[in-house]
Amino acid sequence: MISKFTIQKINDEARVEDVVGEFVTLKKRGANLLGLCPFHNEKTPSFNVNPARNIYKCFGCGKAGGPLQFLIDYQQLSYPDALKYLAKKYNIEIEEENITDEEKQKELEKHNLVESIQIANAAAQKFYTDYMLNNESGRIGLAYFKERGFLMHTIEKFQLGFAPDGFDGFTKHALNEGFQLEVLKKAGLTSSKENSTADFFRNRVMFPIHNMTGKVVGFGGRIMVKDEKSPKYVNTAESEVYLKSKLLYGAWFAKNEIRKKDECLLVEGYTDVVSLHQSGIENAVASSGTSLTPDQIRLIKRITPNITMLYDGDAAGIKAALRGTDLILEEGMNVRIVVLPDAEDPDSYVKKVGSDAFAEFIKNNRKDLILFKTSLFAAEAKNDPIKKSELIRDIIDSIGKIPDSIHRSVYVKECSQLFEMDEQILITEVNKLRRKKANDEQTTIQKQDAQQAKDSKQDQLPDSFHQQQFNEANSNLHVLERDIIRILIEFGSWKVDEEAEANTVAAYMLDDLEGIEIETLRFKPVYDLIKREFLQGNVHDEKFFTANDDEQVTNLAIELLTQPYSLSDNWWEKYKIVIPDKKSVFIKDIQSACIRLKQFRNITELKKIEQRIKEAKDETELIKLMKLHKLLIEQKKEFARTVGNVIYRPTT
Ligand code: CTP
Ligand code: MN
Repeated sequence: MISKFTIQKINDEARVEDVVGEFVTLKKRGANLLGLCPFHNEKTPSFNVNPARNIYKCFGCGKAGGPLQFLIDYQQLSYPDALKYLAKKYNIEIEEENITDEEKQKELEKHNLVESIQIANAAAQKFYTDYMLNNESGRIGLAYFKERGFLMHTIEKFQLGFAPDGFDGFTKHALNEGFQLEVLKKAGLTSSKENSTADFFRNRVMFPIHNMTGKVVGFGGRIMVKDEKSPKYVNTAESEVYLKSKLLYGAWFAKNEIRKKDECLLVEGYTDVVSLHQSGIENAVASSGTSLTPDQIRLIKRITPNITMLYDGDAAGIKAALRGTDLILEEGMNVRIVVLPDAEDPDSYVKKVGSDAFAEFIKNNRKDLILFKTSLFAAEAKNDPIKKSELIRDIIDSIGKIPDSIHRSVYVKECSQLFEMDEQILITEVNKLRRKKANDEQTTIQKQDAQQAKDSKQDQLPDSFHQQQFNEANSNLHVLERDIIRILIEFGSWKVDEEAEANTVAAYMLDDLEGIEIETLRFKPVYDLIKREFLQGNVHDEKFFTANDDEQVTNLAIELLTQPYSLSDNWWEKYKIVIPDKKSVFIKDIQSACIRLKQFRNITELKKIEQRIKEAKDETELIKLMKLHKLLIEQKKEFARTVGNVIYRPTT
């Protein structure tokens, strides 16, 4: 394991602008750098690199992180590999960690198991391929593939093979080679019943399944002759290394071509992928017969926003497959559908017409997902008003999920024609949805700009903030808590008072907020982490958070540091100039954030108690509640007095 010290050193040395700059052309824009986002398709740059904070963030798609995260996301490196890459780049010597023997043993065992499973899978792949190519009784497997038109170099590239008939040919061989039975079972290569063990794959042609780093993690075994009693495919069971929902068949071979063509073809079967690649269409992957999972969508999204789904030409299957596709729209991906001619699948069709005609067919027949869905269901809903209105609602939902407004308006137009319906009604409905969505999210750059404009307007009227009353309706817990967490991350290690060494902003705030819990689920773990560290005598600066081991902490820190919030950098910068006593303004800002949170809590608590007083059944309870009520009212007055002394800023 790479030592904490080395990781620290790498995090200190690695420059985000260097690392990102290797892959993305960046232009200077103020203190930051700006470029076209490598994670999504865009024409105007919204990918921001902030050298001072050592982080990047795309205001279009929301991708964010530091140098390490960039390598993990963009180059698809594992965490240790990304560390090694940076160590090499910055000439940092890698030091292995001194962990306790017990920890080491545990790590080792876990690591060894995963590693052993991988080695077993690699050995199995080799065995199946060898058996097919070199063993007399394995030739039928080779003949099967050849019969299907797979050429030798394709068979080699995809490492296809054949699992012998018989009972335990592979298992015996593997045990002979020194593999442990336990590992073979964990890998799903050997199954055991009572006291006997047997090969899991028997008399099937084998498709190894590779993960994103090219390692074999599982297999699909196809039966060679139709048999009603056995399934056509048998697949590896889920294991430590084989998580079906996170894998796409062929992705390892396709990823470069997907990036180059900026499009991913999604097919259903192993054989479709193999055939398409053989024909030179190398951006195809398969979901292996199931509908796409969110993890699989993200896997593709890291490489391209464009998915084209290829379906065999049978209507029932398509309707089922379309369920769940909203998930892809929501990710901001462009989804298109191609339905192949009757009774053809990509494998058979590309063999029939050749790769050029196949590519041409896709180009001419791909339909946008929403329009496709609309026309598919429109016919059947035509004479059924209830079905029709359900369908329209459904389509509006889908359209509302598309981030791009021009795309949306095109859909609205087309759909209004299809449904013979007033366009304006559709527009109104979609806009309603969008407004709701916009209120829920605050991540777009437009919002930030609007916020900044608002901030600078407020800057001209600093006095009004002194008088601003606490406006409950304007406030919400999430925003208040967000301010607290952001200040703790950004300024927590700043000194409140130069004389008293230990007197940091974090110390001040944690003390001031004693007894108050953070309720927003996303913020709570970070707040608790800060508290825990503080109790151990540690107060960290923002780098600790933006380059944290815990990805959730890193993501949240970057999000908060790059998002507009009520105490905006801009506003504060300007204040520093306007008011001579900078520090006191800063401290007041912090006090204000703490008080607003406490005040909010006070008021919600008061409301609760007042409700309970109304509902109280017996006298003792009532007296208890009245006492509490009095206490809260006193607190409320106290807050109101303090409020007069701190600067108030309305929150968004
Ligand atoms: N599949 C499966 N188990 C089955 C049937 C199918 O896991 N019993 C998965 C496989 O990943 C398969 C995919 O669903 O590749 C698509 O199924 P199908 O179209 O029937 O298989 P093909 O790969 O097209 O195989 P072939 O061309 O030989 O019919
Ligand atoms: Mn097929």
